[in-house]
Amino acid sequence: MIENMIDIHSHLIPNIDDGSDTLEESLTLLKMAADDGITRMVLTPHIHLGRYINTRTSIQFEYTKLKRAVADKGINIELAFAAEVRLDSEIIALVEEKDIPLFGPYDNKQYLLLELPHGHIPVGTTRLIEYLISLNIVPIIAHPERNRELLKAPVKITQIARSGCLFQITAGSIVGKFGAKCEALAIEYLEQGFAFAVATDAHNVKHRPPILSDARRRVVKLLGESIAQDLFYNNPNKISRMLFD
Ligand SMILES: [Fe+2]
Repeated sequence: MIENMIDIHSHLIPNIDDGSDTLEESLTLLKMAADDGITRMVLTPHIHLGRYINTRTSIQFEYTKLKRAVADKGINIELAFAAEVRLDSEIIALVEEKDIPLFGPYDNKQYLLLELPHGHIPVGTTRLIEYLISLNIVPIIAHPERNRELLKAPVKITQIARSGCLFQITAGSIVGKFGAKCEALAIEYLEQGFAFAVATDAHNVKHRPPILSDARRRVVKLLGESIAQDLFYNNPNKISRMLFD
């Protein structure tokens, strides 16, 4: 077993987004993560205006119940929470009201897991990223390798990267769970050095399980142990350390 990996992207708080449906399912998934060698997990429910209306307060309420159940069951995994925020101009108001749970602080900055729509990169994306950075909030773009516009034109990631954001690659993409094209793009972005972290984006047992070890083994083969350690532990630890008490 590979020990000591930190997952910064998952949907395991029951019944507040399209992730786990029940407390039982969440406990099964968290046990699965612990057995895979994940020692710390940041739970990141969707904040998607018009679809998943979560806030810092509502997430914390459900998170606290889950955390108690995990302790009662004796599952050996440390938990914290943040959110995955769908890109939308209205998130500026939520950020300014401090109603979005962020990662950090690290290096005097906070970090926001930002989700693009799956089909395209909206006009104004880089402007929004630059605005967030001006507030000392660095966006981490979730799974760019799954975005259809980037799949068609991978080089477009350089324009986004120039605005100063970071990128999270999904473990399942690296091992082919989302098809050959996503796999190839995940590997390409890893080799080009765009990835800041690899995470599970776990939703359920079947299609998106909380497993990092197989992707880590592949990254070790491709890029070596030191880069794997950065992507699966060191970088996730930098931005999440302050969230775990
Ligand atoms: Fe996600």
